[in-house]
Amino acid sequence: MSSQAPIESYAELLKQGNLVVFPTETVYGLGASAWNPKAVQQIFKTKGRPGDNPLIVHISSIDMVKQFTDQVSGRARTLMHKFWPGPLTLVFPKKAGVLDAVTAGLNTVALRMPDHPIALQLIELAGPLVAPSANKSGRPSPTRADHIRSDYGSSLPLIDGGECDLGLESTVIDMSVNPPVILRPGYITAKQIEAACGFLPEIANYEASEGTAPKSPGMKYTHYAPKAKVGWLTPEYSSMLNSSNDNSGTLLILHHMSNPVSPPHKGLKVTHFKGDYKRMAHELYDAFRRADFDKITHIYIEPITAEVIRDNQPAEALLNRISKATGRSAPSVEL
Ligand code: TXA
Ligand code: MG
Repeated sequence: MSSQAPIESYAELLKQGNLVVFPTETVYGLGASAWNPKAVQQIFKTKGRPGDNPLIVHISSIDMVKQFTDQVSGRARTLMHKFWPGPLTLVFPKKAGVLDAVTAGLNTVALRMPDHPIALQLIELAGPLVAPSANKSGRPSPTRADHIRSDYGSSLPLIDGGECDLGLESTVIDMSVNPPVILRPGYITAKQIEAACGFLPEIANYEASEGTAPKSPGMKYTHYAPKAKVGWLTPEYSSMLNSSNDNSGTLLILHHMSNPVSPPHKGLKVTHFKGDYKRMAHELYDAFRRADFDKITHIYIEPITAEVIRDNQPAEALLNRISKATGRSAPSVEL
């Protein structure tokens, strides 16, 4: 089906139990009807996703929440009204009847209302949709239609909505515990949540390692990684790059410092975001994917400091995703 087909035809495919890739404001999602067990299973198969990693249910109205949970606290209600539609996923105790495949057997369910007209219209027509990021498991999330074609060819029905605005996945906050905890940092920060409802949530330790049981199963897997080796730009790597005569195959991603390799030469590629962390979020996954295309073998990224995080909205989320891509904070599971 071409991207010119009317949205109703994609909704029909979903209602018949097929998968459809659709755009959201964060990243593209691989959608299936949240009430169709076969379609939900097909998502795990198509992505190569481990069965213990639950899916987010996407809804288009606050009224749909009650299909999935009957335990919405006052705080949760405040957050829904303040940030939906938008890049915030709330985890609730699930209602009986919510499919086990959706929640990976957990007794909680994650809900989000995406801020994208195509996504909202599709859900209006087809009903609630589970939608993980539409990448093959372990690959960077897709923020452009090309990224999906490079993971799957043209085997999946795809609604091309152009580039996703934000470029990083939603913040996930667990409202089923008291106090609520951020399981995955995203565009909406802990400080914004505090401003909305008067409590500052902790961010769960996403450096959870093998042997521990992270609250959000997705946290234990290596994620968001290009084929190149990704590392933080330590002083040792800077001097190594300076002393090498051939840095071809290496990409430096900077955001604040001036280029530490002088003169900037010897085949080194440099991408500098110049303090624009929103642009960095928008382009990070594309930069990772382009690096694969350009046969980059090593990517070094300027560390993101506490100071940068304090002053720049998506910086905590960038730190989280890049830490995952370095693989240092996660077991080496090839997905
Ligand atoms: O921005 C987004 O959230 C995108 C777009 C497509 O909406 N979706 C997305 O889905 O990033 P996915 O499947 O790639 O990531 C969902 C994350 C995983 O880390 C998963 O473990 C966590 O949410 N999650 C889902 N249900 C959960 C639950 N019941 N309890 C704890 N964590 C949950
Ligand atoms: Mg994902």
